[in-house]
Amino acid sequence: MNQMLQNQVDLIREAFHYQSRFDGSTMVFKIDFPVTEDPSFPTLMKDLALLALTGFRVVIVPGAKEWIDAVLRKYDIVSTYAGNTRITTKESLPFVEMAAFHVATRFMTALSGSQVDAVIGNLVRARGLGVIDGVDMEHTGMVDKIYTDSFNHFLNQGTVPILPCIGWSPSGKPYNVPSDEIALAASAALGAVKLFFISLHGGLREGVYTIPEGCHIGENGRIIRLNLQEAETILAANRDGPALGGNGDPPYTAECNKPETGSRALYELRLAIQALKANVDRVHIIDGREDGSILRELFSNMGAGTMVYADEHESIRNLRSSDIPVVLKLMEPLMQQGNLVRRNAEDIQEKKNDYVVYEIDGQIHACGALHLWGEQGEIAAMATDPVYSDMGLGKKIVHFLVDRARKQQLRRVFVLTTRTHDWFETLGFKEDTLESLPEKRRRHYNQSRKSKVFTLEI
Ligand SMILES: CC(C)(COP(=O)(O)OP(=O)(O)OC[C@H]1O[C@@H](n2cnc3c(N)ncnc32)[C@H](O)[C@@H]1OP(=O)(O)O)[C@@H](O)C(=O)NCCC(=O)NCCS
Repeated sequence: MNQMLQNQVDLIREAFHYQSRFDGSTMVFKIDFPVTEDPSFPTLMKDLALLALTGFRVVIVPGAKEWIDAVLRKYDIVSTYAGNTRITTKESLPFVEMAAFHVATRFMTALSGSQVDAVIGNLVRARGLGVIDGVDMEHTGMVDKIYTDSFNHFLNQGTVPILPCIGWSPSGKPYNVPSDEIALAASAALGAVKLFFISLHGGLREGVYTIPEGCHIGENGRIIRLNLQEAETILAANRDGPALGGNGDPPYTAECNKPETGSRALYELRLAIQALKANVDRVHIIDGREDGSILRELFSNMGAGTMVYADEHESIRNLRSSDIPVVLKLMEPLMQQGNLVRRNAEDIQEKKNDYVVYEIDGQIHACGALHLWGEQGEIAAMATDPVYSDMGLGKKIVHFLVDRARKQQLRRVFVLTTRTHDWFETLGFKEDTLESLPEKRRRHYNQSRKSKVFTLEI
């Protein structure tokens, strides 16, 4: 099979893996207004329709800020603000409602074109912000309650709820509520496994923001995923906005709430942290202009944007017999290139307990082994899936194995390597002599490979 076909097959496998994992799960999509104006919008909506048609429970929260601004300007209504929060006056409310429902209808139209049922309903109960520091916020409100029973009624039928930025009090008073807040509250109340923030910016990237060491960075400096702690570190490190010149990433002021100053990407990261703390499993920040970005983010390990997660979706664990074919597939090209000593399934099975694998979302992307030779341990069979190289997987496996050796009271670990000595040196290993190897291992030394010996005292 040629490489292109092989890649396609791998991608289809990955997609099925995620499809079965998330089938029937609720996902909330907060989509900024500028995305609806972009030429990519129809394709994005087709992908969302596809998700709804294949059994995902899709909720859409359209952002309408820029359209509300435009409508108010058109009717010569000047907005007043308390800090960054717009005061929705009695006079401006009908125009805010008109703008909010106009945007929601665009989503309804797009879904109807794909034969997906959708509903714009009174699914959010709101209450007014009241008087803050002596300023009456009038019709500016906050989420009071999410009517989960009504949501489930629609979602169980495969209908997509669309939530404009308007909520109503129990007595029927309308309030303008920030879409981001609605998206957060709906995700938390509905037990969503995923919350997407879709906008028109490149997200968090290395080279624009100060990014702590060890983050998973992909092509164009995109941060592929962050755990909660890393997300909080990035926020703290970039408190004053993009450190290195915000490339296409303008300062952000939200519609009704009071975000601290900073870029939209940082603002979304802050929302993501809030969502994780409200028990949403994963938040995805993606650029709506990229073709297939939602599908790639959902159905492939590498994604298309930045995933912020709370659950431990990656781990190092012991090898199981059922993993051996996958591990051999990972090693095969490296064995062919001569980087790794050739092993077959029986060899691995025999030393099964020495091996560990690095799993991301249930799929293996790296492996390594620690073989015991008396008081010394040998680190061997280190291999990382090339798609996942330079993301620290190898380093984490070595640390894991060294830790295991330490717990087993070994005094040193060594590695025999032909082409990776520089890498082991960066991990603290030092070149050593053949004589430093345990006697028994020296007898098995393959003279023709001429591997170098590197050791680490532990
Ligand atoms: C060695 C190997 C396991 C590293 O995997 P990895 O998960 O990409 O490693 P990490 O992400 O922890 O480290 C990547 C860093 O090491 C560097 N690196 C990778 N291979 C290297 C090598 N052979 N020599 C020197 N540096 C190397 C990368 O450039 C990267 O540098 P950066 O952090 O400055 O960007 C992987 O390259 C591999 O599978 N190699 C072939 C098999 C092999 O030789 N195994 C060792 C014999 S047991």
